[in-house]
Amino acid sequence: MNDAKPVILKIGGSAITDKAEPLAAKTEIINRLAEEIKRADLDNLIIVHGGGSFGHPTAAKYGIKEGYKEDPAQKLGFAETHHVMTVLNGLVMDALIWHEVPAISIAPSSCIITENGKIKFFDETAVKAMQKMTFTPVMYGDAVLDDKLGFTILSGDQLVAYLAIKYNASKIVIGVDTDGLFDCDPKTNPNAKPYKHLTLAELKQIQPKIGKTAGTDVTGGMAGKIAELIPAIEQGVRITITGATKGLSIFRALTDQSVMGTEIEKA
Ligand code: IPE
Repeated sequence: MNDAKPVILKIGGSAITDKAEPLAAKTEIINRLAEEIKRADLDNLIIVHGGGSFGHPTAAKYGIKEGYKEDPAQKLGFAETHHVMTVLNGLVMDALIWHEVPAISIAPSSCIITENGKIKFFDETAVKAMQKMTFTPVMYGDAVLDDKLGFTILSGDQLVAYLAIKYNASKIVIGVDTDGLFDCDPKTNPNAKPYKHLTLAELKQIQPKIGKTAGTDVTGGMAGKIAELIPAIEQGVRITITGATKGLSIFRALTDQSVMGTEIEKA
């Protein structure tokens, strides 16, 4: 049985794939993250991972996010987008199981329906049963069916915020390929200044400055992520954004130790 409030971990696609190259997984990083997750040994953890160079290019190619436009090629594109996500998910699951994390994969496309891109229906039966048995559910950004659009793309970030609110999460940890949020792109500007702590009001103020990421990103890069996460912050859930590509940041963030990155709180 499990009464602990869940911690929700989002592993960004930018951290576990090479966004410059289609279908390129960073298996060493995936393995190290699995090791850190095992070491953190949390009783109530939900993992959500992103699409990176698996989901995004396929979704962009067929215009899946924008919905069904009566083009039969899109149907195959929808199926392919979901399928490549299951391939990336398989790699994440391999690493987790290999590191003895009792993780079970749940496909969002099988239990979530959106309406105009926002989660409208979520069959939580499996997640709840897994939590009760202290399994670690693993979900991901996915191609999902949509009541109004036919289908669309559900970002891992919207899912994270939704789960955090629904299950009253103690916190959200977001692992990306930078050490948190910066005032400009740290990959192209060596003088980029990190934000160490932000309140919701401060986050909203800097929102227009937060950039898009390099490579194809149908869910809007870092700016899109922040917009999706705001509802959870509004409900009082703390968020730590940290570098998943650097050793131990995720372990430290999961176990409530200080990390290089950005802490976001309601006030
Ligand atoms: C995108 O999920 C999923 C698909 C494109 C199918 P995310 O938007 O959460 O992915 P990342 O973390 O930005 O790669």
